[in-house]
Amino acid sequence: MKKLVVVLGSARQDSISEKAAMKYIEGAEQAGYETVIFRANDMNIHGCTGCGNCRKNGTDCVIQDDMQKYYSELHSCSALLVTSPNYYANVAGPMITFMNRHYCMNNPDKTSRLHSGIKLAGIFAQGAPENYPKYPATYDWYLSTFTGKGMDLTDKLIIGGDSNIQTVLNKAYEMGKNL
Ligand SMILES: Cc1cc2nc3c(=O)[nH]c(=O)nc-3n(C[C@H](O)[C@H](O)[C@H](O)COP(=O)(O)O)c2cc1C
Repeated sequence: MKKLVVVLGSARQDSISEKAAMKYIEGAEQAGYETVIFRANDMNIHGCTGCGNCRKNGTDCVIQDDMQKYYSELHSCSALLVTSPNYYANVAGPMITFMNRHYCMNNPDKTSRLHSGIKLAGIFAQGAPENYPKYPATYDWYLSTFTGKGMDLTDKLIIGGDSNIQTVLNKAYEMGKNL
């Protein structure tokens, strides 16, 4: 069965990015995916220490924390969805720490350690209007860590403070269904 791994970046009750992610998941499950969900804020994730063990030996990160379970799901998934609220013009802190821990997904020769064909989607919620011009570059930068390891970006959804929520949820559902 195709597997979608989801990493939710908001800790907020009634989170808009999470609501959209749930609609995305609904669509993906309709399309035959099983889903595994992680909540970054509830995970025990240590910061990358830059020890270099992974790049020397071509292995997953040696830090024994909740990323290990994620790594194992990542190595066997077909798609990854990452979500985040915008905090201070960037993705939220736990999602940065999470992203930093992908340094180990490159071999010593810098080729990707991930299997090919993993589809990638990002959902980002911000207080600023949907078309606020300053933020897309930041979200693209964030996603580039994952596309840089060979993932194929299929969907990116930016939810603004002025977005119509029903429209956003419909869009998220359609994206998931077409995954
Ligand atoms: C600490 C903090 C910092 C924020 N900084 C920004 C910001 O720089 N730009 C922005 O557009 N919205 C900012 N916001 C608003 C959130 O991005 C917005 O409420 C978003 O919809 C939250 O997503 P969520 O509902 O998925 O948690 C900030 C909110 C918080 C709590």
